[in-house]
Amino acid sequence: MSQVTFISPQGEKIVVKNAMGNLMEIATEHDVEGIEGNCGGVCSCGTCHVWVEPEWLERVGQASEIERGILNFEDNSNERSRLCCQIEMTDDLDGIVVKVAN
Ligand code: FES
Repeated sequence: MSQVTFISPQGEKIVVKNAMGNLMEIATEHDVEGIEGNCGGVCSCGTCHVWVEPEWLERVGQASEIERGILNFEDNSNERSRLCCQIEMTDDLDGIVVKVAN
């Protein structure tokens, strides 16, 4: 029964309850604007870029080296950036909030 909240570039909140899978899949299934997931979640396109809300950063953990390599190509990446296809929903992340990077 894990819940995730996406904040769209316009500030709209999309709350998904009973979320399962990775955050990119959840976002695309719920038509979250700005999350495209063009590579299908294999960490090669960068179209699933989000900023993790600060209070969740520690629990989400660090990006892998490959993920960081993709994020380095994004103009708007910062220390809160993650590719959300690389974040698997778990009970531990129940309530997580991420903002679509814009
Ligand atoms: S969907 Fe392509 S990097 Fe996440």
